[in-house]
Amino acid sequence: MLEQYIEKVLITEEEISEKAKEIGAQLTKDFDGKNPLIIGILRGSIPFLAELIKRIDTHVEIDFMTVSSYHGGTKSSGEVKMIMDVDTPVNGRDVIIAEDIIDTGLTLKYLKELLEHRGANVTIVTMLDKPSNREIDIVPDYTGFEIPNEFVVGYGLDYDENFRNLPYVGVLKQEVYSN
Ligand code: IMP
Ligand code: MG
Repeated sequence: MLEQYIEKVLITEEEISEKAKEIGAQLTKDFDGKNPLIIGILRGSIPFLAELIKRIDTHVEIDFMTVSSYHGGTKSSGEVKMIMDVDTPVNGRDVIIAEDIIDTGLTLKYLKELLEHRGANVTIVTMLDKPSNREIDIVPDYTGFEIPNEFVVGYGLDYDENFRNLPYVGVLKQEVYSN
């Protein structure tokens, strides 16, 4: 069972679900009639995005992008690479980037600049924010939870591609990293 690897639960499934409802209601108001394109950043955004879109009660479209900034481990490499692009044109469009977490801010800076360069009007939604570890001055428009500068897993977030499927956000036991 995956629970044996978890030191502590930081945010429960119920809390995330409740937050998705709140943000979804806000997006419904703010984007009513605008038909925004929601771009989920793979792979981590999937569980939160799935919750969130069910709570948006107006027309939206969905597409995905994959970028990588980590090469395994728990520290960002500082270099963002495009792995898979969206195929929806974004010129002149309201685009909502949906992220799992903002840490240094490098990934979002890259994505925001790229999409703005293509003519999109960009809004950022993130499930989690670790503002204390920011290297780039970037502030999300909608944030689920601010968390301390700790490496977390679950609800889409991985450690070496594992633990994305945990139904909550938690901190791993130290021994997991030494294996
Ligand atoms: P940034 O470019 O440093 O802001 O990092 C953004 C990406 O790093 C996120 O989309 C995550 O994939 C990953 N990341 C940052 N912090 C964590 C964490 O605590 N756990 C798991 N992945 C993280
Ligand atoms: Mg990741």
